[in-house]
Amino acid sequence: MKNNQARPPILKYLILSLFLFFPFFLLLFSLKPKHHQNTTTDPTSKIQIHSSGDLKIRPGYASYESYIQRQLHKTLNPKLRQVWTTRDWDRKIQVFVQFFQDLKRKELLFNESKALSIGARVGQEVEALRRVGVSDSVGIDLVPYPPLVIKGDFHNQPFGNETFDFEFSNVFDHALYPDKFVGEIERTLKPNGVCVLHVALSRRSDKYSANDLYSVKPLVEMFKVSEVVHVRKVDGFGLDTEVVFRKKTVT
Ligand SMILES: *[C@@H]1O[C@H](CO)[C@@H](O)[C@H](O)[C@H]1NC(C)=O
Ligand SMILES: *[C@@H]1O[C@H](CO)[C@@H](O)[C@H](O)[C@H]1NC(C)=O
Repeated sequence: MKNNQARPPILKYLILSLFLFFPFFLLLFSLKPKHHQNTTTDPTSKIQIHSSGDLKIRPGYASYESYIQRQLHKTLNPKLRQVWTTRDWDRKIQVFVQFFQDLKRKELLFNESKALSIGARVGQEVEALRRVGVSDSVGIDLVPYPPLVIKGDFHNQPFGNETFDFEFSNVFDHALYPDKFVGEIERTLKPNGVCVLHVALSRRSDKYSANDLYSVKPLVEMFKVSEVVHVRKVDGFGLDTEVVFRKKTVT
């Protein structure tokens, strides 16, 4: 008797509570992450291998396109371009002239060298190369600045194999795919060609950087067909280390 009387109220509560909780279940399911959204279309995303140890790729780039847009944001900044071409111009060229004269004394750079500056912005390094007598020199950047800098992505240099005797860059930290950055240098250097990189090891570089480097070891590993010529401390606009490679003649 007791059981028969108790059953209906229990059922009532059960049905009532189901109705009350139903909206919560709905909410719970709608909050579950959707795995099929935002699948990346970047074909190069699988190439990235150096994201541990002393070289870390910064997270947060959803696609190669968003990375390029962010780099352009800095390169096209009118205030920065104004500073680069006026206040910074002579000061930077003087420092680069010192660097390049030193490399000439060490016989790593010659008047006859065909030279490339990678990530050259408004071309101060190219101007400095020309002033020390390296007349056949040019720069590449995402935004051209004629006649010193032509348009080109350092992940995919617009040059044939074995084009240059000398390549310089101080924008390694902007590379989203460091091994492509290095691979393109080795591809476009002639045998015996020299690559000079200025990098920051002790200081974290700017908010537009795509990677952080903590030692020269990852660089040395990425240069597959080159030998280290020297590593030394420099004072290069926040970049503290000069690493010089020479491409081998027989690979
Ligand atoms: C290289 O070029 C500079 C500047 O034009 C010149 O002063 C120098 O004599 C040249 N050096 C050689 C070895 O030709
Ligand atoms: C250029 O070099 C790359 C890498 O070293 C190689 O895979 C490619 O076949 C070369 N291309 C030509 C046209 O020699």
